[in-house]
Amino acid sequence: MAVDVILGLQWGDEGKGKIVDYLADKYDLVCRFQGGPNAGHTIKIDGNKYVLHTIPSGIFRPEITNVIGNGVVLDPITMVKEMTVLENAGIDFLPRLLVSRKAHLIVPTHRYLDAASEAAKGLGKIGSTLKGIGPAYMDKTGRNGIRVGDLSAADFKTRYQIIREKHLGLIKLYPDIDFDLAAEEEKFFESVEIIKKLRFVNSEYFVNNALTEGKKILAEGAQGSMLDIDFGTYPYVTSSNTISAGVCSGLGIAPNKIRDVIGIAKAYCTRVGSGPFPTELLDETGEKLRQVGKEFGATTGRPRRCGWIDIPQLLYTIMLNGVTQVIITKLDVLDTFEEISVATAYKYDQMISEELPYDIVGKPIEPQYSTYAGWFESLDDVTDYNDLPLKSKEYIHQLEKWLKTKISMVSTGPEREKLFAR
Ligand code: GDP
Ligand code: IMO
Ligand code: MG
Repeated sequence: MAVDVILGLQWGDEGKGKIVDYLADKYDLVCRFQGGPNAGHTIKIDGNKYVLHTIPSGIFRPEITNVIGNGVVLDPITMVKEMTVLENAGIDFLPRLLVSRKAHLIVPTHRYLDAASEAAKGLGKIGSTLKGIGPAYMDKTGRNGIRVGDLSAADFKTRYQIIREKHLGLIKLYPDIDFDLAAEEEKFFESVEIIKKLRFVNSEYFVNNALTEGKKILAEGAQGSMLDIDFGTYPYVTSSNTISAGVCSGLGIAPNKIRDVIGIAKAYCTRVGSGPFPTELLDETGEKLRQVGKEFGATTGRPRRCGWIDIPQLLYTIMLNGVTQVIITKLDVLDTFEEISVATAYKYDQMISEELPYDIVGKPIEPQYSTYAGWFESLDDVTDYNDLPLKSKEYIHQLEKWLKTKISMVSTGPEREKLFAR
């Protein structure tokens, strides 16, 4: 059987967690393929809200096996915190949560380095979540990393000491920052003992055997395509391939096994952290989107930057990912807007273009907008796509035309049940 992918088409926080949780019951396995605890995937079920950082969003479906793939970077400390939340909620996840032996570990000095490096950048900072993601992937590609499988090695502590000393040498290059390394290391080693209770697997074999047995796999992306290390707004990006190509390297799945690529986009657009955002609204409309959309980071609590939906940006990420269908989330947030704008092209260098320029960082871009009338009606009680206000359906229809891609579902609230097929 095939692998379907759910990933974010903007700068993250598109509502991937909610959609993965909803669609998970059509699959046997849900697998994270990249990123780490920089992700914050929110799921609302029966009035309870959960935020997952490393654990796949299929974990609330009792029949489903969840795999943390080799492309993920895993911090034992945050992982244990997530496990505790699930335990307290009475979710029996232990037998259903598998971790790739090849996933790299985030150690406390990765976070220390992340914080020191960001502090040194001053105004040029990336706005990292400071979870140690960049330094952990640097050690992976630099061939210095330690992996989940190494936790069982007799010389794990020695390997840890080597990487720690290397980091402490690097940290001297940066200005001094506060970081209680001793306390973090104590938590780290306590957490390591707890995560050793999880089932570590050779996940590339596990997922490929599952495919051979006819099982269905859903790959869950983290971050968004505009944060991809190669194709995002570099250097204001994360450190992994967030696009569909990352599924192959992050799980050991061959490209010809990928079937549907489901791209998630908000009905508007947000970004958290620094970097270009052509349609950003710095006025009261942006503030209204932030307040109504409750646009505050699920991982860091930071206010998210808000703006209108951006068609050139979405066409770019639809192209990069081979998106076969789009799901639009947070349509309800636009309920009280008199007019809704859609950026359909960019103006830069005295020309109109639908292409994102190479030098998008620092280049003034003037988005060209089309404006649609709002529907001025609450979507709260809607239980079927056909019952949505006409103007909201018209908005979706227009988006579909601009995106030249099927919009298969629309989400109208954070709750699991507020998702309608078209
Ligand atoms: P993710 O990182 O892509 O999983 O998204 P986040 O969880 O970081 O952010 C999405 C936020 O929007 C969360 O607070 C969700 O509960 C919420 N959300 C998801 N879908 C909808 C929707 O259709 N309407 C509204 N109002 N909120 C939504
Ligand atoms: P989910 O999976 C939104 C952003 C950070 C920062 C940049 C680099 O919840 O959509 P990093 O910590 O990776 O060094 O940060 O990427 N970022 C996210 N923004 N959603 C996320 O994940 C993000 N993960 C990282 O804000 O600008
Ligand atoms: Mg998020």
